[in-house]
Amino acid sequence: MEQNEEMDQTLVLIKPDALKNSLTGYVLSLLSEFHTGLRFAGAKIVYVSNLLAEEHYAEHRGKIFFPSLLEYIMGQLHYPDEPWKRRVIALVYQGHDAVQKIRDICGPTNPHVAREKKPGCIRALGALVPLKDAEGNVIGERMDNLIHASAVREDAEREIKLWFNPSDIPPFMRTYPAEVNESFYYYRDGRLFLNHEPGSVCLLAPGDIAWKSDLDALRLLSQGSSSTTSLGSVAAKYLMNTEKI
Ligand code: GTP
Ligand code: MG
Repeated sequence: MEQNEEMDQTLVLIKPDALKNSLTGYVLSLLSEFHTGLRFAGAKIVYVSNLLAEEHYAEHRGKIFFPSLLEYIMGQLHYPDEPWKRRVIALVYQGHDAVQKIRDICGPTNPHVAREKKPGCIRALGALVPLKDAEGNVIGERMDNLIHASAVREDAEREIKLWFNPSDIPPFMRTYPAEVNESFYYYRDGRLFLNHEPGSVCLLAPGDIAWKSDLDALRLLSQGSSSTTSLGSVAAKYLMNTEKI
C-alpha cells in the first residue's frame, strides 16, 4: 500500500521512572509539534498487565534482564508498595519521519552512553541500577531510561496495534486497516472460545471495531490454525485497563 509520509506513526511510552520523577511535562515539551512537527494521534494512561509487558518486550524473552524489564514497565520497581500508582502514558505521534525524529530526541538506550554521546537527549536523564541476586551479588544492571520509542516502522505498527484500539485513534488519523467484528470471542487462561465458558471474559462482540490483523488472527486461531499475531497480544489490548487479566 502506498504510504503518505505525513501519516507516519510511532509509539511512545512514558515509563514509570519518568512519571515518578515528574518528567512527563518536560518530555512532552521536547516532543511537541513546535519542536518535531509531529501531531498527537492517540494518548492513554495504561495499567500494564504481565501479558501486555510480555507482548511488548517479546523480542527480549530469554535474556538475563527480561524479568527486570517486565517489573520495570509494570511499575513494580518504582511503586513497590503503591500499586495504584503503577501505570505508563502511551502516545501515538504522527507526521513526517515520526519514528526517527522521536528516536533522535530519546537518544541511546543506555543512560550513561546517552550522557556521553548525546548530552541533552531525554535518556541522558535516566539511571543505571545494579541488579542483585538473593545473596546481594551484582548480576547485571537495569537501564531506567524514562521513555520507549518504536525503533523502525514495522515495530511502530506492531506496537501501536498492541497498545491502541482503532477507536482510540481519530478515524482520519488511522493508518492501519480496521474492521467491524461479526463474532463473539471469549478468552480464559491463554485460550480462545467462540461461546461463553465459565470464567471466560468477552474479548470482542459483534459490532466492535478492531484492527483487521487482529480479526484475521482470531479467525485463524479459532479454526486451530497458527497466526503471526498472537492471542496474547489481542487479549492484552482488548482487555487493557479492565482488571480481567
Ligand atoms: P526501547 O525504546 O525501550 O525499546 O529501547 P531501545 O529500542 O533503545 O532498546 P531495546 O529495544 O534493545 O531494549 C528495550 C529495553 O530493554 C531498553 O529500554 C532497556 O531498558 C532494556 N535493555 C536493552 N538492552 C539491555 C541490556 O543490554 N541490559 C539491560 N540491563 N537492559 C537492556
Ligand atoms: Mg526497542
